[in-house]
Amino acid sequence: MHLPGGPLAQLLALTLALGAQAALAQDAPPTVGAGGAPAVIDPAETPATQPSQTPWVIPPSGPFSPQSIPVPNADEIAAWARSAHANPTSESFSHWNEQGEIPPVCANCHSGIGFRAYHGLDGGEPGPLRDPVPTGGVVDCGTCHNPGLAQISEVALPNGMMHPAPSGEVTCLTCHQGRASGAQVEAATAGKDDDLPDPTLSFINPHYAIAAASWLGGYGALGYHYPGRDYAGRFLHAAPVATCNSCHEPHSLEVAEASCLTCHQTGEASQIRIARQSYDGSGDTAKGIHADIAANAARLLAMAQDYAATVAGTPMIYDAARHPFFFADANGDGLADQRDGASVPYGSWTPRLLRAAYNWKFVNADPGIHVHNPPYALQLLHDSIEDLSGPLNVDFEALGMLR
Ligand code: HEC
Ligand code: HEC
Ligand code: HEC
Ligand code: HEC
Ligand code: HEC
Repeated sequence: MHLPGGPLAQLLALTLALGAQAALAQDAPPTVGAGGAPAVIDPAETPATQPSQTPWVIPPSGPFSPQSIPVPNADEIAAWARSAHANPTSESFSHWNEQGEIPPVCANCHSGIGFRAYHGLDGGEPGPLRDPVPTGGVVDCGTCHNPGLAQISEVALPNGMMHPAPSGEVTCLTCHQGRASGAQVEAATAGKDDDLPDPTLSFINPHYAIAAASWLGGYGALGYHYPGRDYAGRFLHAAPVATCNSCHEPHSLEVAEASCLTCHQTGEASQIRIARQSYDGSGDTAKGIHADIAANAARLLAMAQDYAATVAGTPMIYDAARHPFFFADANGDGLADQRDGASVPYGSWTPRLLRAAYNWKFVNADPGIHVHNPPYALQLLHDSIEDLSGPLNVDFEALGMLR
């Protein structure tokens, strides 16, 4: 197994030692809390506070056959070490390496240390961080295995709402909720002329991997909700697959396709469909619901670009690889305009365009939205497309889209 260096290697060494200690001491199985809550690994028990302990697994005398020494938790460690949560070189954990510290507003999700500080699991006051956190951390074992987590019953969403969370989901809901909300889009655009470019507006990014935001749907209201419309709440799916951890193995993060086969004919998520109606106007109900969402998302982006060029007056291009993703293309050559060697962020946002672009990015910011909450995705896309149709003189009814 490839072991990355630095803090991660130390963490693994500590965790291995922790497992070995348990094995040598009492051969005890890991503690698992009531109601399937995560096993509790008490940080006070780690060798860091017991310097007399050897921080790696070496038997007291030979023969030295490491492969024959049982290491409890080895499966979890191995699964976790290969997961995105443990990858210190990913953009999510290395973005701040040059600065050497992670700003307080980012650290609660981009480091185990920041997460613990945010929830008061480090002995401090819970709430938004005031101080930066050193770089080098990942989503370590102690992020999800902390005795204090069992006491937390709700999670604050980006719009200030407190949402109830069962103890196994507090962690996922904290970090995968994104950073923006429909209320933020509403506040930025309220009272402004729908179709007038406003230089004070800029793109509002829902952030990345926002599975919890889409899963909560209308209950969280993290998408932009058009006035007078109802939105599907949390996607309850079916009892055995109703929580993050019932589908995702929490260490490898993988979803076993076989677990879908009890109820669906395939385990390939993008091919699954229950809906008997076509949402994208194609009439094709053989394809997965993923395809309806993808078709409507593509239609919305094309219409937003049409609107930018014809109504807002400046063509707009989308670049998935660069923040803030939407760039000006004043001469319409399909390339972002350049100023001082950098692409010019789109600057002709109208309230209507900003709302539609936000919803489009929201749907695309969760690559699993077709599983996490297909009705919510379809509603956000439907209403955004309908809203752009007016000023574009598109016959919305003729598109044949269903909500
Ligand atoms: C509510 C939790 C949360 C907060 C707060 C947060 N992030 Fe993130 N961020 C995430 C998650 C989850 C991902 C992982 C996305 C993925 O899987 O690619 C991520 C990914 C990223 C990425 C990598 C995107 C990519 O293309 O791979 C960057 C850069 C980033 N965040 C910057 C920031 C900055 C800057 C801040 C503070 C201003 C911040 N984040 C605050 C949750 C958060
Ligand atoms: C993203 C959150 C998360 C991280 C990170 C994490 N775990 Fe877990 N772990 C869980 C959850 C949730 C469960 C409970 C699983 C269940 O109930 O099926 C669990 C269960 C366990 C169990 C009990 C196994 C079982 O089948 O009941 C052990 C042991 C364990 N984890 C060890 C670790 C170790 C060691 C690490 C670090 C290498 C780690 N975990 C990192 C969330 C996490
Ligand atoms: C402390 C914040 C944090 C917690 C807690 C957390 N995650 Fe993550 N998660 C992240 C970040 C950051 C990434 C992106 C890591 C990367 O790009 O290497 C990520 C990545 C993922 C991915 C893979 C995404 C990809 O791009 O491959 C899945 C799936 C995932 N998390 C699910 C979960 C589940 C399920 C839970 C709860 C058991 C959870 N996460 C808890 C921050 C967190
Ligand atoms: C019904 C099972 C199910 C539930 C419940 C579920 N997921 Fe997923 N999730 C999936 C599947 C399947 C995918 C991959 C979809 C695909 O690739 O087609 C996925 C994708 C993801 C991704 C993106 C991974 C990537 O490769 O970028 C993240 C992050 C994630 N889920 C987190 C969560 C969180 C957090 C929760 C709880 C709020 C959750 N999921 C609930 C099945 C589920
Ligand atoms: C216990 C039965 C059950 C299991 C197991 C199950 N599902 Fe489902 N699934 C359903 C039901 C019922 C619906 C319809 C729910 C609704 O619309 O409210 C559904 C809906 C869906 C949809 C949306 C289909 C549509 O047309 O809107 C997708 C995608 C999906 N499931 C994926 C998965 C994946 C991926 C897995 C495995 C990780 C899985 N499901 C496991 C019962 C199940």
